[in-house]
Amino acid sequence: MAISVLPSAAGAATDPFPINGTDYVEFYCGNAKQASHYYRTAFGFQLVGYRGPETGVRDRASYLLVQGKVRFVLTSALGPESPIAQHHLQHGDGVRDLALWVDDCRQAFAYATAHGATAVRAPEVEKDADGEVVIAAIRTYGDTIHSLVERRNYRGLFLPGFRAAKSAYQPEPVGLQYVDHCVGNVELGKMDVWVAFYERAMGFRNLVSFDDKDISTEYSALMSKVMANGNERIKFPINEPAPGKKKSQVDEYLEFYRGPGVQHVAIATDDIVRTVWALQARGVEFLKVPEAYYDTVLDRVGKIDEDLAPLRALGILIDRDDEGYLLQIFSKPVEDRPTLFYEIIQRKGARSFGKGNFKALFEALEREQDARGNL
Ligand code: FE2
Repeated sequence: MAISVLPSAAGAATDPFPINGTDYVEFYCGNAKQASHYYRTAFGFQLVGYRGPETGVRDRASYLLVQGKVRFVLTSALGPESPIAQHHLQHGDGVRDLALWVDDCRQAFAYATAHGATAVRAPEVEKDADGEVVIAAIRTYGDTIHSLVERRNYRGLFLPGFRAAKSAYQPEPVGLQYVDHCVGNVELGKMDVWVAFYERAMGFRNLVSFDDKDISTEYSALMSKVMANGNERIKFPINEPAPGKKKSQVDEYLEFYRGPGVQHVAIATDDIVRTVWALQARGVEFLKVPEAYYDTVLDRVGKIDEDLAPLRALGILIDRDDEGYLLQIFSKPVEDRPTLFYEIIQRKGARSFGKGNFKALFEALEREQDARGNL
Protein backbone atom coordinates (compact mmCIF):
# COMPACT_ATOMS: atom_id res chain seq x y z
CA MET A 1 0.00 0.00 0.00
CA ALA A 2 1.41 3.37 -0.95
CA ILE A 3 1.18 6.46 1.20
CA SER A 4 -0.99 8.03 -1.47
CA VAL A 5 -3.87 5.65 -0.79
CA LEU A 6 -3.96 6.32 2.93
CA PRO A 7 -6.94 8.39 4.11
CA SER A 8 -7.96 11.00 1.59
CA ALA A 9 -7.34 14.70 1.73
CA ALA A 10 -10.92 15.28 2.90
CA GLY A 11 -10.87 18.32 5.10
CA ALA A 12 -7.49 19.41 3.72
CA ALA A 13 -8.86 22.89 3.06
CA THR A 14 -9.51 23.34 6.77
CA ASP A 15 -6.36 21.59 8.01
CA PRO A 16 -4.37 24.27 9.85
CA PHE A 17 -1.13 22.33 9.40
CA PRO A 18 -1.19 20.34 6.14
CA ILE A 19 1.43 17.55 5.95
CA ASN A 20 1.97 15.31 2.94
CA GLY A 21 3.75 12.58 4.87
CA THR A 22 6.99 11.60 6.58
CA ASP A 23 9.88 13.20 4.69
CA TYR A 24 12.74 11.37 6.38
CA VAL A 25 13.95 10.08 9.74
CA GLU A 26 17.43 11.27 10.73
CA PHE A 27 19.52 9.37 13.26
CA TYR A 28 22.55 10.75 15.05
CA CYS A 29 25.02 7.88 15.29
CA GLY A 30 28.49 7.21 16.65
CA ASN A 31 29.63 5.86 13.31
CA ALA A 32 27.18 6.52 10.47
CA LYS A 33 29.34 4.73 7.95
CA GLN A 34 29.07 1.47 9.85
CA ALA A 35 25.42 2.05 10.82
CA SER A 36 24.60 2.43 7.13
CA HIS A 37 26.16 -0.97 6.55
CA TYR A 38 23.93 -2.46 9.25
CA TYR A 39 20.72 -0.96 7.86
CA ARG A 40 21.62 -2.14 4.36
CA THR A 41 22.69 -5.63 5.42
CA ALA A 42 20.04 -6.31 8.04
CA PHE A 43 17.07 -4.21 6.85
CA GLY A 44 17.59 -4.17 3.08
CA PHE A 45 17.97 -0.41 2.60
CA GLN A 46 19.85 0.93 -0.44
CA LEU A 47 22.53 3.58 -0.11
CA VAL A 48 21.54 6.35 -2.52
CA GLY A 49 23.05 9.60 -1.22
CA TYR A 50 25.90 11.08 0.76
CA ARG A 51 26.85 14.45 2.21
CA GLY A 52 30.14 15.13 3.97
CA PRO A 53 33.60 16.66 3.63
CA GLU A 54 33.85 15.49 0.00
CA THR A 55 30.72 17.52 -0.82
CA GLY A 56 31.80 20.61 1.12
CA VAL A 57 30.25 19.91 4.56
CA ARG A 58 32.98 20.10 7.17
CA ASP A 59 31.44 19.01 10.45
CA ARG A 60 29.45 15.86 9.66
CA ALA A 61 28.92 12.91 7.35
CA SER A 62 25.42 11.77 6.35
CA TYR A 63 24.28 8.67 4.49
CA LEU A 64 20.87 8.61 2.79
CA LEU A 65 19.27 5.16 2.75
CA VAL A 66 16.04 4.35 0.94
CA GLN A 67 13.60 1.47 0.80
CA GLY A 68 10.11 1.91 -0.65
CA LYS A 69 9.03 5.37 0.54
CA VAL A 70 11.14 5.13 3.70
CA ARG A 71 14.10 7.50 3.83
CA PHE A 72 16.64 7.19 6.66
CA VAL A 73 19.49 9.66 7.08
CA LEU A 74 22.36 8.45 9.27
CA THR A 75 24.62 11.24 10.50
CA SER A 76 27.84 11.33 12.53
CA ALA A 77 29.91 14.20 13.87
CA LEU A 78 33.47 14.64 12.64
CA GLY A 79 34.72 16.10 15.92
CA PRO A 80 33.90 16.29 19.63
CA GLU A 81 32.88 19.97 19.52
CA SER A 82 29.89 19.16 17.28
CA PRO A 83 26.39 19.21 18.84
CA ILE A 84 25.93 15.88 17.04
CA ALA A 85 28.74 14.44 19.17
CA GLN A 86 27.07 15.85 22.31
CA HIS A 87 23.77 14.28 21.24
CA HIS A 88 25.48 10.95 20.74
CA LEU A 89 27.31 11.13 24.07
CA GLN A 90 24.03 11.82 25.85
CA HIS A 91 21.64 9.53 24.02
CA GLY A 92 23.66 6.94 22.14
CA ASP A 93 22.50 6.20 18.61
CA GLY A 94 18.97 7.52 18.26
CA VAL A 95 16.43 9.51 16.30
CA ARG A 96 17.17 13.24 16.11
CA ASP A 97 14.64 14.32 13.50
CA LEU A 98 11.20 13.12 12.46
CA ALA A 99 11.08 15.31 9.35
CA LEU A 100 7.73 16.20 7.81
CA TRP A 101 7.00 16.92 4.15
CA VAL A 102 4.96 20.12 3.81
CA ASP A 103 3.88 22.24 0.83
CA ASP A 104 4.61 25.57 2.52
CA CYS A 105 7.46 25.56 5.02
CA ARG A 106 7.17 29.22 5.99
CA GLN A 107 3.46 28.93 6.68
CA ALA A 108 3.89 25.72 8.69
CA PHE A 109 6.72 27.22 10.73
CA ALA A 110 4.78 30.44 11.35
CA TYR A 111 1.70 28.50 12.49
CA ALA A 112 3.63 26.22 14.82
CA THR A 113 5.71 28.97 16.43
CA ALA A 114 2.66 31.23 16.81
CA HIS A 115 1.02 28.36 18.71
CA GLY A 116 3.79 27.60 21.16
CA ALA A 117 6.38 25.55 19.24
CA THR A 118 10.03 26.36 19.93
CA ALA A 119 12.05 27.22 16.83
CA VAL A 120 15.22 25.24 16.19
CA ARG A 121 15.82 26.69 12.75
CA ALA A 122 13.93 29.52 10.99
CA PRO A 123 12.97 28.83 7.34
CA GLU A 124 16.03 28.77 5.11
CA VAL A 125 16.33 28.28 1.38
CA GLU A 126 18.88 25.69 0.30
CA LYS A 127 19.76 25.62 -3.40
CA ASP A 128 21.73 23.65 -5.90
CA ALA A 129 21.56 23.00 -9.66
CA ASP A 130 18.36 20.96 -9.14
CA GLY A 131 16.35 23.77 -7.58
CA GLU A 132 15.61 24.83 -4.03
CA VAL A 133 14.26 23.40 -0.81
CA VAL A 134 12.85 25.48 2.03
CA ILE A 135 13.58 23.92 5.41
CA ALA A 136 12.86 24.90 9.02
CA ALA A 137 12.72 22.95 12.28
CA ILE A 138 10.83 22.98 15.58
CA ARG A 139 11.44 21.15 18.82
CA THR A 140 9.39 18.31 20.15
CA TYR A 141 10.01 16.06 23.20
CA GLY A 142 13.57 15.80 24.54
CA ASP A 143 16.26 16.64 22.00
CA THR A 144 14.05 15.46 19.15
CA ILE A 145 13.02 17.85 16.38
CA HIS A 146 10.63 18.06 13.43
CA SER A 147 12.19 19.51 10.30
CA LEU A 148 9.57 20.99 7.98
CA VAL A 149 10.64 20.32 4.40
CA GLU A 150 9.15 22.08 1.36
CA ARG A 151 10.41 20.53 -1.85
CA ARG A 152 7.93 21.65 -4.55
CA ASN A 153 10.69 23.56 -6.39
CA TYR A 154 13.25 20.79 -6.10
CA ARG A 155 13.86 17.91 -8.49
CA GLY A 156 17.17 16.64 -7.10
CA LEU A 157 18.00 13.43 -5.30
CA PHE A 158 17.08 14.49 -1.76
CA LEU A 159 18.37 17.78 -0.35
CA PRO A 160 20.91 20.26 -1.73
CA GLY A 161 24.41 19.13 -0.80
CA PHE A 162 23.69 15.43 -1.11
CA ARG A 163 25.29 13.69 -4.03
CA ALA A 164 24.31 10.34 -5.47
CA ALA A 165 26.12 7.46 -3.83
CA LYS A 166 26.47 4.07 -5.40
CA SER A 167 27.76 0.98 -3.75
CA ALA A 168 28.74 -2.35 -5.28
CA TYR A 169 27.06 -3.83 -2.20
CA GLN A 170 23.30 -3.74 -2.63
CA PRO A 171 21.51 -6.33 -0.52
CA GLU A 172 17.97 -7.20 -1.64
CA PRO A 173 15.22 -5.02 -0.11
CA VAL A 174 12.96 -6.85 2.37
CA GLY A 175 9.71 -5.14 1.33
CA LEU A 176 9.61 -2.18 3.74
CA GLN A 177 7.21 0.39 2.25
CA TYR A 178 6.52 3.45 4.39
CA VAL A 179 6.68 4.78 7.95
CA ASP A 180 3.37 3.83 9.59
CA HIS A 181 3.90 5.58 12.95
CA CYS A 182 6.66 6.81 15.27
CA VAL A 183 6.30 6.47 19.04
CA GLY A 184 7.75 8.82 21.63
CA ASN A 185 8.49 8.02 25.28
CA VAL A 186 8.13 10.98 27.68
CA GLU A 187 8.36 11.38 31.45
CA LEU A 188 5.60 10.62 33.96
CA GLY A 189 3.05 13.43 33.80
CA LYS A 190 4.28 14.77 30.46
CA MET A 191 2.13 12.77 28.02
CA ASP A 192 -0.71 15.30 28.14
CA VAL A 193 1.74 18.18 27.76
CA TRP A 194 2.91 16.75 24.43
CA VAL A 195 -0.62 15.80 23.42
CA ALA A 196 -1.55 19.46 23.91
CA PHE A 197 1.54 20.54 21.98
CA TYR A 198 0.62 18.47 18.92
CA GLU A 199 -2.98 19.70 19.11
CA ARG A 200 -2.15 23.36 19.51
CA ALA A 201 1.05 23.84 17.51
CA MET A 202 0.48 21.35 14.70
CA GLY A 203 -3.29 20.82 14.45
CA PHE A 204 -3.12 17.12 15.38
CA ARG A 205 -5.95 15.31 17.17
CA ASN A 206 -6.05 12.48 19.66
CA LEU A 207 -7.01 9.39 17.65
CA VAL A 208 -7.08 6.90 20.51
CA SER A 209 -5.95 6.59 24.13
CA PHE A 210 -4.74 3.64 26.17
CA ASP A 211 -4.63 3.77 29.93
CA ASP A 212 -2.78 1.59 32.37
CA LYS A 213 -5.67 -0.91 32.41
CA ASP A 214 -5.13 -1.57 28.69
CA ILE A 215 -1.37 -1.71 28.95
CA SER A 216 -0.40 -3.38 32.16
CA THR A 217 1.13 -6.61 33.22
CA GLU A 218 1.65 -7.94 36.69
CA TYR A 219 4.66 -5.69 37.06
CA SER A 220 4.69 -2.57 34.99
CA ALA A 221 2.44 -0.30 33.03
CA LEU A 222 2.32 2.59 30.64
CA MET A 223 -0.18 5.02 29.24
CA SER A 224 -0.36 6.11 25.62
CA LYS A 225 -2.21 8.60 23.45
CA VAL A 226 -2.04 8.43 19.67
CA MET A 227 -1.82 11.81 17.94
CA ALA A 228 -2.59 12.08 14.21
CA ASN A 229 -2.44 14.91 11.72
CA GLY A 230 -5.40 15.93 9.52
CA ASN A 231 -4.99 13.28 6.82
CA GLU A 232 -3.68 10.65 9.31
CA ARG A 233 -0.52 10.08 7.30
CA ILE A 234 1.40 11.08 10.43
CA LYS A 235 0.69 9.14 13.62
CA PHE A 236 2.67 9.81 16.76
CA PRO A 237 1.70 7.74 19.81
CA ILE A 238 3.07 9.34 23.01
CA ASN A 239 3.83 7.04 25.96
CA GLU A 240 4.43 7.82 29.60
CA PRO A 241 5.22 5.37 32.39
CA ALA A 242 2.44 4.38 34.79
CA PRO A 243 3.21 3.27 38.33
CA GLY A 244 3.50 -0.53 38.65
CA LYS A 245 5.03 -3.06 41.00
CA LYS A 246 8.31 -2.76 39.11
CA LYS A 247 9.97 -0.40 36.68
CA SER A 248 8.01 0.40 33.53
CA GLN A 249 9.62 -0.27 30.16
CA VAL A 250 9.21 3.47 29.54
CA ASP A 251 11.25 4.23 32.67
CA GLU A 252 13.98 1.91 31.46
CA TYR A 253 14.05 3.78 28.14
CA LEU A 254 14.12 7.21 29.81
CA GLU A 255 16.96 6.10 32.05
CA PHE A 256 19.14 4.79 29.23
CA TYR A 257 18.26 7.41 26.61
CA ARG A 258 18.78 10.05 29.30
CA GLY A 259 15.43 11.63 28.64
CA PRO A 260 12.47 11.54 26.27
CA GLY A 261 12.93 10.33 22.72
CA VAL A 262 11.71 8.08 19.94
CA GLN A 263 10.98 4.60 21.26
CA HIS A 264 10.06 2.83 18.04
CA VAL A 265 9.54 3.43 14.36
CA ALA A 266 6.85 1.25 12.77
CA ILE A 267 7.36 0.43 9.11
CA ALA A 268 4.66 -1.06 6.89
CA THR A 269 4.98 -4.00 4.53
CA ASP A 270 2.37 -5.72 2.36
CA ASP A 271 3.86 -9.16 2.95
CA ILE A 272 4.90 -9.43 6.57
CA VAL A 273 5.81 -13.12 6.37
CA ARG A 274 8.29 -12.51 3.55
CA THR A 275 9.64 -9.34 5.21
CA VAL A 276 10.13 -10.85 8.67
CA TRP A 277 11.54 -14.07 7.26
CA ALA A 278 14.15 -12.02 5.37
CA LEU A 279 14.93 -9.82 8.41
CA GLN A 280 15.40 -12.82 10.69
CA ALA A 281 17.60 -14.54 8.11
CA ARG A 282 19.80 -11.42 8.15
CA GLY A 283 20.12 -11.40 11.92
CA VAL A 284 17.44 -8.93 13.07
CA GLU A 285 16.23 -10.11 16.49
CA PHE A 286 12.56 -9.98 17.44
CA LEU A 287 10.63 -10.30 20.68
CA LYS A 288 9.01 -13.70 21.05
CA VAL A 289 5.70 -14.32 22.77
CA PRO A 290 5.01 -17.74 24.32
CA GLU A 291 3.85 -20.51 21.95
CA ALA A 292 0.53 -20.60 23.82
CA TYR A 293 -0.36 -17.26 22.20
CA TYR A 294 -1.00 -19.10 18.93
CA ASP A 295 -3.25 -21.74 20.52
CA THR A 296 -5.99 -19.18 21.13
CA VAL A 297 -5.25 -16.22 18.87
CA LEU A 298 -7.72 -17.20 16.13
CA ASP A 299 -10.50 -17.48 18.72
CA ARG A 300 -9.83 -13.83 19.51
CA VAL A 301 -9.27 -12.40 16.01
CA GLY A 302 -11.38 -14.72 13.84
CA LYS A 303 -10.57 -15.75 10.30
CA ILE A 304 -7.49 -14.35 8.61
CA ASP A 305 -6.15 -14.75 5.07
CA GLU A 306 -2.75 -16.06 6.16
CA ASP A 307 -1.76 -19.53 7.29
CA LEU A 308 -1.10 -19.54 11.01
CA ALA A 309 1.99 -21.79 10.75
CA PRO A 310 4.44 -19.20 9.30
CA LEU A 311 3.10 -16.52 11.67
CA ARG A 312 3.72 -18.85 14.61
CA ALA A 313 7.16 -19.84 13.31
CA LEU A 314 8.24 -16.21 12.92
CA GLY A 315 6.49 -14.87 16.05
CA ILE A 316 4.18 -12.46 14.17
CA LEU A 317 1.26 -11.16 16.26
CA ILE A 318 -2.33 -10.63 15.12
CA ASP A 319 -5.04 -8.22 16.27
CA ARG A 320 -8.44 -7.13 14.99
CA ASP A 321 -10.55 -3.98 15.29
CA ASP A 322 -13.87 -2.84 13.78
CA GLU A 323 -12.32 -2.17 10.39
CA GLY A 324 -10.14 -5.22 9.84
CA TYR A 325 -7.04 -6.83 11.25
CA LEU A 326 -3.32 -6.25 11.44
CA LEU A 327 -0.16 -8.31 11.70
CA GLN A 328 2.79 -6.95 13.67
CA ILE A 329 6.12 -7.84 15.25
CA PHE A 330 8.62 -5.90 17.37
CA SER A 331 12.40 -6.06 17.15
CA LYS A 332 14.71 -6.01 20.11
CA PRO A 333 16.55 -2.70 20.57
CA VAL A 334 19.02 -2.14 17.73
CA GLU A 335 21.71 -0.57 19.90
CA ASP A 336 23.42 -1.57 23.17
CA ARG A 337 21.32 0.80 25.25
CA PRO A 338 17.76 -0.58 25.56
CA THR A 339 16.30 2.31 23.57
CA LEU A 340 15.16 2.42 19.93
CA PHE A 341 13.52 -0.60 18.31
CA TYR A 342 11.42 -1.29 15.22
CA GLU A 343 7.93 -2.55 14.57
CA ILE A 344 7.06 -4.23 11.28
CA ILE A 345 3.33 -3.95 10.54
CA GLN A 346 0.96 -5.14 7.84
CA ARG A 347 -2.48 -3.57 7.92
CA LYS A 348 -5.42 -5.48 6.50
CA GLY A 349 -8.08 -2.86 7.09
CA ALA A 350 -7.29 -2.19 10.75
CA ARG A 351 -6.17 1.35 11.59
CA SER A 352 -5.42 0.61 15.24
CA PHE A 353 -2.19 -0.38 17.01
CA GLY A 354 -2.55 -3.94 18.28
CA LYS A 355 -4.16 -3.37 21.68
CA GLY A 356 -5.05 -7.07 21.90
CA ASN A 357 -1.35 -7.93 21.82
CA PHE A 358 -0.19 -5.50 24.47
CA LYS A 359 -0.27 -7.92 27.38
CA ALA A 360 1.59 -10.78 25.67
CA LEU A 361 4.00 -8.31 24.17
CA PHE A 362 4.81 -6.43 27.35
CA GLU A 363 5.35 -9.65 29.22
CA ALA A 364 7.87 -10.63 26.53
CA LEU A 365 9.46 -7.20 26.86
CA GLU A 366 9.73 -7.52 30.61
CA ARG A 367 11.55 -10.83 30.28
CA GLU A 368 14.18 -8.95 28.24
CA GLN A 369 14.20 -6.07 30.73
CA ASP A 370 14.69 -8.56 33.58
CA ALA A 371 17.61 -10.18 31.73
CA ARG A 372 19.25 -6.74 31.62
CA GLY A 373 18.74 -6.33 35.36
CA ASN A 374 16.41 -3.37 34.84
CA LEU A 375 13.04 -4.66 36.00
FE1 FE2 B 1 3.72 0.72 17.33
